[in-house]
Amino acid sequence: MSVYILLFFLLRFSAAKDDCTPTRCSHHGPTIRFPFRLKNHHPPHCGYPGFDLSCSPNTTSATTILHLPVSVKVLVNDIDYKSQLIHIKDPNSCFPQQLRNLNLSAAPFIAPFPQDLPNPNLSGSFVGNFSVFSCPSTPPDWERISERVTCLSGHGREVYAVNHMWDTYEAPMMRCRKMYNVWSVPYEAFYQTADLQLRWPLAVCRGCEAEGKFCRLSQLARALWVVIGLESSDEVDSC
Ligand SMILES: *[C@@H]1O[C@H](CO)[C@@H](O)[C@H](O)[C@H]1NC(C)=O
Ligand SMILES: *[C@@H]1O[C@H](CO)[C@@H](O)[C@H](O)[C@H]1NC(C)=O
Ligand SMILES: *[C@@H]1O[C@H](CO)[C@@H](O)[C@H](O)[C@H]1NC(C)=O
Ligand SMILES: *[C@@H]1O[C@H](CO)[C@@H](O)[C@H](O)[C@H]1NC(C)=O
Repeated sequence: MSVYILLFFLLRFSAAKDDCTPTRCSHHGPTIRFPFRLKNHHPPHCGYPGFDLSCSPNTTSATTILHLPVSVKVLVNDIDYKSQLIHIKDPNSCFPQQLRNLNLSAAPFIAPFPQDLPNPNLSGSFVGNFSVFSCPSTPPDWERISERVTCLSGHGREVYAVNHMWDTYEAPMMRCRKMYNVWSVPYEAFYQTADLQLRWPLAVCRGCEAEGKFCRLSQLARALWVVIGLESSDEVDSC
């Protein structure tokens, strides 16, 4: 009898310690599971470093929040686990305001070129390095080579993002003042209503998701476990 009681407690204990059950911030929010985890809800081994999500404190309509290096806070609209894409937007509908602080090379995400996407039906982005200028008026000929940053323009200044692939991008034109550089972001980041997609290029688990299997980290070694069901702890070598 006591053996059964001991077994019961052992099973309960291990179940409680391994609680990586998928969750979400609100009814309409994206499911949060490996390689993501919900901070303060899932233990660290439920996700990879850099994949921590949190919920906004708004309890009536909680949104899902991702922090990107260095200090960029974005809302998560959708997570496509099969294609390894995360759809983000700026909480104030003005990404350019935050781009100055964005360093994607310190994050586990990339802005995907079309050729980086696993499915040709997904639309990729034209990724580039940009200089952002503040000008008293529209410099001649800049329509062709620049994106007007609507949400930063106004009050007598026009803000433009110029791709570094243009030779003239550093030219001090029309009393324009260079504000900052932005590295490796897609053009859409400068549009007002940007829904940006980022990809996590972790090779890990990709084949498994395509087969309808799931992954998580083992608690001890932080090695990868492939599990057939989210509740299952059966270890499988590969997909
Ligand atoms: C909470 O969400 C509701 C619905 O989206 C919104 O009207 C309200 O302003 C939000 N409250 C805060 C404190 O953000
Ligand atoms: C971005 O992050 C990478 C990796 O942490 C670092 O090497 C690089 O200097 C950073 N770039 C900028 C512009 O801060
Ligand atoms: C791409 O879209 C077409 C038409 O909607 C569909 O038939 C095809 O299966 C899709 N390809 C993939 C890889 O999803
Ligand atoms: C942007 O700049 C980085 C660092 O200088 C470079 O490695 C990268 O290739 C550039 N990207 C493009 C699209 O030019």
